[in-house]
Amino acid sequence: MSVPNPPEPIPGARLLFSLDPAVSHLNHGSFGAVPIGVQRAQQRLRDEMEANPLRFFTQGLVDRIAHTRRHLAGFLGADPDGSALVGNTTTGVAVVLQSMDLKAGDEVLSTDHGYGAVSLAIQRECRRTGAVSRVLPIPLAATDEQIVQSIRAGLRPGRTRLLVVDQLTSATAKLFPTAAIVGVAREHGVPVLVDAAHAPGMLSTPVAGIGADFWVGNLHKWAYAPRGTALLAVAPQWRERIEPLVVSWEQESGFPARLEWQATLDYTPWLAAPAGLFTMRSLGVDRVRAHNAALAAYGQRVVGDALGVAPAELPDPGGPGVALRLIPLPAGTGTTIDAARALQARIGERLAAEVAVMSWNGRGWLRLTGQVYNAADEYERLGARLPALLAQR
Ligand SMILES: Cc1ncc(COP(=O)(O)O)c(C=O)c1O
Repeated sequence: MSVPNPPEPIPGARLLFSLDPAVSHLNHGSFGAVPIGVQRAQQRLRDEMEANPLRFFTQGLVDRIAHTRRHLAGFLGADPDGSALVGNTTTGVAVVLQSMDLKAGDEVLSTDHGYGAVSLAIQRECRRTGAVSRVLPIPLAATDEQIVQSIRAGLRPGRTRLLVVDQLTSATAKLFPTAAIVGVAREHGVPVLVDAAHAPGMLSTPVAGIGADFWVGNLHKWAYAPRGTALLAVAPQWRERIEPLVVSWEQESGFPARLEWQATLDYTPWLAAPAGLFTMRSLGVDRVRAHNAALAAYGQRVVGDALGVAPAELPDPGGPGVALRLIPLPAGTGTTIDAARALQARIGERLAAEVAVMSWNGRGWLRLTGQVYNAADEYERLGARLPALLAQR
């Protein structure tokens, strides 16, 4: 079976990272990788903090955070004053859930493509408030129209108090038609929280034009920011109703400062995050996106081919620019979370390849990513060795 050519490599890009060269890093999606220049920028900020902690925290830090947030929000197409920096997507989701004032009988609707920790957060908030969590099944191959149709049919106006959808799903690497979903929810008066953990850096201005009540995405995955950097964009009608998880000194300053100032924390990841955007821009933002998406697609075909999966059975993300791709594992492999984790660890140890193994809907999937530090031969090596590893049960 013929596999299309891989994209042209971006020369020298691997040298920008401190990744172990003995390992193929094919799972950028879970925790990202911070370029050396960004690590250095953060270290310089830490040096400044340690040289005079009192001055660092008390002289202008709130303004520096606001300035950084405006820059990052601009890159994402978000309203710079209608967004707040938070530590990660999980935190942003928790902030939104606990600000919804859910009551007994209310319902939070999500889909079976949602991220596990977000589902757990919804379940806990529902337990705490007496609300109900309902999960809509959406087939992996559903078209945009079918997804919107399922969501339209699943909303229960007057009862559904929040709809949580992913912009780009984690377990299934699928783009959801977020703007259309928000449109349908709005017709029914249901607020929407978009989990956009993977969108910053991967999708162009991912907040713009969606119109979600809440949108939260990580800059520490695909935008090369230090870990602990995410942006929560909030629609105007919610800004004064949204409460931080921790009340601290900026509480009376209103949104967004009261969300951003969370007492004594290391704020250097946020301040260094623009260096991540600088890295992307130096390489060429569009070039990075096109390269990563094409390389992930190449990897999917190579490894899929090695596992005997026909191209038609390889899930398509449903839109351009996606650098996460799935390959179905043989039946019975990686079908539970524990089995998937064990297989992922085994592939890491035995094949020196870091990948994501996902169990979704009773089936195991390999999820591969493409990044500027990856090369075609890494997927080829994985494809050459994986079938034998999977055969040893
Ligand atoms: C769809 C999705 N939501 C949320 C998260 C959680 O991100 P974080 O651990 O940075 O909060 C992830 C992480 O991979 C994700 O893929």
